[in-house]
Amino acid sequence: MKKILVTGGTGYIGSHTVVELRQKGYDVIIVDNLSNSSIEVLDNIAAITGTKPLFEKLDLAEREVTLDFFARHTDIEAVIHFAAYKAVGESVEQPLKYYRNNLFSLINILDGMLENRISNMVFSSSCTVYGQPDELPVTEQAPIKQAMSPYGNTKQISEEILRDTTNVNKNLNAICLRYFNPIGAHESAKIGELPLGVPNNLVPFITQTAIGIRPQLKVFGDDYPTPDGTPIRDYIHVVDLAKAHVVAVDRMLNEKMKKNCEVFNLGTGNGFSVLEVIKSFEKVAGVKLNYKIVDRRPGDITEVWADTSFANRELGWKAEKGLDEMTLSAWKWELALAEKKKNKIR
Ligand code: UD1
Repeated sequence: MKKILVTGGTGYIGSHTVVELRQKGYDVIIVDNLSNSSIEVLDNIAAITGTKPLFEKLDLAEREVTLDFFARHTDIEAVIHFAAYKAVGESVEQPLKYYRNNLFSLINILDGMLENRISNMVFSSSCTVYGQPDELPVTEQAPIKQAMSPYGNTKQISEEILRDTTNVNKNLNAICLRYFNPIGAHESAKIGELPLGVPNNLVPFITQTAIGIRPQLKVFGDDYPTPDGTPIRDYIHVVDLAKAHVVAVDRMLNEKMKKNCEVFNLGTGNGFSVLEVIKSFEKVAGVKLNYKIVDRRPGDITEVWADTSFANRELGWKAEKGLDEMTLSAWKWELALAEKKKNKIR
């Protein structure tokens, strides 16, 4: 069995990707520092796949431990690198924390890979690199805009690091996957998003409001130049997203890449407004959501959705799940979490 290192594999997208990798017959080793995830996720992955993945708790921003890890695991065939900080607002407050963690980790991993002749990396990038695109849907060729936050800048710089490094190391392959807005949870409701503290993102805030953890959802602005005045995003089911990572690994290991550094958009190609997401949630959950329109959130763009034709054609991958399926799975996950909490209290 081919062994894949998944950094950040106990996190939201990482855990779903580990499940898909296992189900396609890959062997997985997870590295995570558990700064924004829980060790229990390993048991939940095991409950879905039947086996607990190998795990090491370590901080990839620490150079010596990272190089030591790679020296001990020379049988790794590809790395999927998720481990990174991702809170946009926090990155504005603490830029060095973000640059240090997100960039040092990537550099240390690349050094470890080069030293041990590990040739393949799938990198977790973001549509944030496009800023507000001039043309929609946005293609991979759209210009990279000045980042709106240190978080966004770490994604841009990371892509540049990968481009420059693969440029001089022809045996090194990188695939950068630019995610649009991942939401939803595994159909088993055993894994999903576990925000620490108050969620920054829309869907976990919706589900936490509906279940009574938060009193009210704030909708950040209804005066955008969109049909209903709220911003439009390309929401993609996290399981569809996870599957694209397996396809990317297959592509690398089967030597199907056209260049040794490739970039793909991962979205559905459909845009939905904040109010449309709320309506979908209310319909599938049968719950009336308490929300209020407030001022815009600084840094939010008006609208973005993906041109997915390159990923569809080249990867032979397409997002399959619709908005209602996404919001319903997010709700089932929130209900499962509430059930777990109740049982713990008992
Ligand atoms: C943000 C980041 C993106 C990152 C993603 C996942 C930017 C510009 N975007 O995407 O890079 O990959 O998070 O972490 O940096 N909203 C509300 N009320 C809320 C929360 C959100 O109305 O309580 C609205 C927002 O204004 C936005 C939409 O919901 O229009 C989606 O917001 P969010 O889920 O935070 O994602 P993005 O900002 O699109």
